[in-house]
Amino acid sequence: MTKEEKYSELLKTAESLIDPKAGMIANMSNMAALIHHGFGFLWTGFYLAGGEELLLGPFQGPLACTRIPFGRGVCGTAWKEERTVIVPDVDLFPGHISCSGESRSEIVVPVWNRGKIVAVLDIDSRETGTFDEVDGKYLEYLCAVLSCSIDSGLRKYIADEIIPRYDNFDKGHGRDHAENVIRQAMALCVRYDVNPDMVYAAAAYHDTGLCADRKTHHIVSAQIIRSDAVLESWFSRDEIDVIADAAEDHRASLGHAPRTIYGRLIAESDRLIVPETVIRRTVQYGLAHYPELDMEGHYARTVEHIDEKYGDNGYLQLWIPESPNALRLEELREIIRDRSKLRQCFERVYAEEKAELNF
Ligand SMILES: [Fe+2]
Repeated sequence: MTKEEKYSELLKTAESLIDPKAGMIANMSNMAALIHHGFGFLWTGFYLAGGEELLLGPFQGPLACTRIPFGRGVCGTAWKEERTVIVPDVDLFPGHISCSGESRSEIVVPVWNRGKIVAVLDIDSRETGTFDEVDGKYLEYLCAVLSCSIDSGLRKYIADEIIPRYDNFDKGHGRDHAENVIRQAMALCVRYDVNPDMVYAAAAYHDTGLCADRKTHHIVSAQIIRSDAVLESWFSRDEIDVIADAAEDHRASLGHAPRTIYGRLIAESDRLIVPETVIRRTVQYGLAHYPELDMEGHYARTVEHIDEKYGDNGYLQLWIPESPNALRLEELREIIRDRSKLRQCFERVYAEEKAELNF
């Protein structure tokens, strides 16, 4: 099982494990146990942000430091700089606070709740270089699950009735797309004072309008939300309007900025800009909609689309500055500027997609 698959399973368990009525400490305790025993780390636990220092919270593993000052060590740095900190070798981290001599590498992820950092998740490993961006991404998702605690009835309705609709859409907008947008929206929304249930619903429904056509799907998604009476079990009419507007505003090609923070969160989460994925989705769309084109035709179409949208003067706008997309967009632009790199990536993806079609 790959690390990503393992984290995906942990996420599913975490979502069903979190009890909104039990409070943060109870949920952190189970979350620490889940991660710790899932991976067999040296130490896994939370430090709670209180005043000028971090205080030891629920954990698994050997005895630990009880208090860490703001800005000190890896935990204090993650809190101060409001970001995930990955340390491949603790001996090389200036000012490292050693609670256990056995720790060789470490990752610390801030736990956001309604726009504030309330804790940090700290994990120590017995080996160097244990943690990378994959751990960072999934641990941020797990910390968001901790703060979001989505209503279980809403979660069940969306899992049973809404997500399966994505099975009817094209490859780029299947179930995994919906699930990724939900996860990303959850991870971003905890940085703002918003209602996580509303973000969850908007993310889940945002592409359901693809049952009509691609061109107007965002408008149809909004109509689907407004006419879904079941949503009234959890939301007021006003809230449903905000959710519908957010789904409608998710399209980057829209002339105007999303009207609310909810719309900005969905628009940003929909654009998981991974250079290779962007190229692959463009190729997939081309193969599905322009079967008459040859490889050169598909290449020309891919370049034109990617340039128009993601190039230096592309129409894509980022709505949430904290999103990981800013860095990834720059990576993609480097590929776009270097046509030989772009061609190389296209050829590989095209061959893979063609092979799968002929399979
Ligand atoms: Fe869409």
